[in-house]
Amino acid sequence: MSLTTFRPAERLSTHEPAKVTTVSLQQKKHTGIPITAVTAYDYASARLVDEAGLDFILVGDSLAMVMQGQENTLAITVDEMLLYTRGVRRAVRRALLVADMPFGSYHASQDEAVSNAIRFVKEAGAEAVKIEGARAELVARLVDAEIPVMGHLGLTPQSIHRMGGFKVQGKTMAAIDALREDALALAAAGCFALVLEGIPREAARLITDELTIPTIGIGAGPDCDGQILVLHDMLTLTFAPPAKFVRRYADLGAAMRTALTDYKRDVEARTFPSEAESYHLPEDARQVLESLRPTD
Ligand code: KIV
Repeated sequence: MSLTTFRPAERLSTHEPAKVTTVSLQQKKHTGIPITAVTAYDYASARLVDEAGLDFILVGDSLAMVMQGQENTLAITVDEMLLYTRGVRRAVRRALLVADMPFGSYHASQDEAVSNAIRFVKEAGAEAVKIEGARAELVARLVDAEIPVMGHLGLTPQSIHRMGGFKVQGKTMAAIDALREDALALAAAGCFALVLEGIPREAARLITDELTIPTIGIGAGPDCDGQILVLHDMLTLTFAPPAKFVRRYADLGAAMRTALTDYKRDVEARTFPSEAESYHLPEDARQVLESLRPTD
């Protein structure tokens, strides 16, 4: 890593767009301009996302899979999530920073959930937390503790064992009705936005039209108030075939493979580092050192 690559985030321009807040994000629903979001888990990528002007960054527990290589999101802990969130916090100035509460951190009791959520705000600088499922009472408790909450319904990955796999939800009228009820209850309890994941477009549109808070879709069609993708999916930094809803915006995996094989080739051929990429002694010191070299 070059010493100049990573500096603390500095102002880039005196005409920066306004900071995104939970309030401005809610207001965006009424502008008709879609909300843009991706996940990020580290300083460098979060900085690029922030500079690209996306509205919010989610430190998603999907990091268990795409950063840690786990099969699902269940094992990641609060301490691990805090570590990643802190790195992202240092990079982000404009986007709203949302942290995912991991499985087990809000399920045992509301008191424990509030304590864990407070850690995300105090220890990692999150501006909101996201929790999965129809937990309206808990949302109200968290909001009462001044912690903004993003809800998440549909294909909720922390329910993988109950759902029997990562499966599209809301495929029957009864299931859509239940989703609708849950969405309304979460909004009434104080969620400022709601992620809808892995549900039919028609169901997402119905819920989006009924709610006054913005819906953020992932695999939920184009009618949501915004969209979110997992950064590693959209940049092709994953190894399994992508889900149907993923659009690949770049192939960073291929770019990295080429860069790494080129580097290996150059090192083995001694063409890296070059003279220009080497540090040199001042001329007088170099001559003294030369004079000390054994001659054949
Ligand atoms: O963990 C995550 O990345 C998420 C998004 C898919 C919404 O919850």
